[in-house]
Amino acid sequence: MTLDSTQTVRDIVQKYPAAVPVFEALGIDYCCGGTKSLGDACEKQKVPLDKALKDLGEALVVRPQKDDKRWTTAPFGELTSHIVEQHHANAKRELPRLAALAAKVNLKHREAHPELDQLRELVDAMRSEMSPHMLKEEQVLFPRLCAMEEAASNGTSLEPAFFGALINPIRHMMSDHDDTGALLKSIRAVTHNYEPPADACMSYQALYHGLSDLEKDTHLHIHLENNILFPRALEFEKAH
Ligand SMILES: [Fe+2]
Ligand SMILES: [Fe+2]
Repeated sequence: MTLDSTQTVRDIVQKYPAAVPVFEALGIDYCCGGTKSLGDACEKQKVPLDKALKDLGEALVVRPQKDDKRWTTAPFGELTSHIVEQHHANAKRELPRLAALAAKVNLKHREAHPELDQLRELVDAMRSEMSPHMLKEEQVLFPRLCAMEEAASNGTSLEPAFFGALINPIRHMMSDHDDTGALLKSIRAVTHNYEPPADACMSYQALYHGLSDLEKDTHLHIHLENNILFPRALEFEKAH
């Protein structure tokens, strides 16, 4: 394995899924900002390139790829089911729970911590952003990809989709991902990197903990779509 500063963050996580927790720990955006080179991503995040290369090298030696599912070759049906069952299910469970918790914590602690007003609004915005987005993927885009794959393997042809070429819905989904990524960045800033204040009660701590987990899961979720599923789908469309 050789890594250098010119490789894109996306290429690195595609090839080495064990790089994901390293990028998470360094704050390097590997989902929406995945097309940047490692050098540029480090510069943007003010992480020394040497440190990133060292951390990546260690993670890739300690945890080789053999346990990681290689989503770069799995059928679309399998990959989209994984996204829906793991990541959409997690977001659908966590977003209403965290929105209710943010409202409760805000009500109790807003006087001492006025930033909780903004946090509640941001969590509500995440929920309003992600819910219709996931529905569009589940009801329109993902079934289309599965149907394309099935038609190709049966040697049959498909009616053209109402949305035209795949790039149209994919562009739309990627723009939604950028919006979600920006909301996550704002949540991270308002919560001071998910660090609850010294006087935080259990609910306050649980809220920050839940939001931090949601960020990790959403980064992985967007990574699987932006960096793996969508490029594969566009390639598939070109080839068939
Ligand atoms: Fe999704
Ligand atoms: Fe998505």
